Amino acid sequence: MNFAVFASGHGSNLQAIIRAVKAGRIKANLQLVVCDRADAYAIVHAQRAQITAIYINPKRFKTREAFDREVIKFLKREKIDFIALAGYMRLLSGYFVKKYKNRILNIHPSLLPSFKGARAIRDAFNYGVKVTGVTVHFVVKEVDAGPIILQKAVVVKPEDTLQTLEKRIHSVEHVLYPSAIQSFIKSTY
Ligand code: GRF
Repeated sequence: MNFAVFASGHGSNLQAIIRAVKAGRIKANLQLVVCDRADAYAIVHAQRAQITAIYINPKRFKTREAFDREVIKFLKREKIDFIALAGYMRLLSGYFVKKYKNRILNIHPSLLPSFKGARAIRDAFNYGVKVTGVTVHFVVKEVDAGPIILQKAVVVKPEDTLQTLEKRIHSVEHVLYPSAIQSFIKSTY
């Protein structure tokens, strides 16, 4: 079984997934990495692991769907069965979500449905919650929504700064995402 990771940024979750595949904790081939930003460090992680990484420039396309149709060409070529979004900052078109229904996973750094959006860790920290966490869920058309696969709570300590909290949340992500991907694989294929 083949899967793709979509990323736009640092790619620390991608890196955790690469390690999990190598260690046999994810029993599928990470066949392709898709980036919508040329400077995504995720591309470097992929290259170091000798995984095909493609960058597609969104500016080349008039609509979100046209961009996604281009992505799908590569997914088909690489015979991709499912997709893990890992810090992919681009909204997926309805077309894409429908086409890969129940086969797109996402990781979000809060306990959904609380603190949706791109600044979830900061928003939770500023709100003053005592517990936040990480969610892995299926992607639906609405952003940061969809059936939850795994969730893990992270306690906010009184001495936490935004930076220490971010660090702890990211390390939870790096364990939770590979294990959610593997449990998805086990239950689906
Ligand atoms: C993670 O916090 C993830 O939950 C969110 O975007 C961030 C990506 O980080 N969706 P990285 O690029 O994997 O380091």
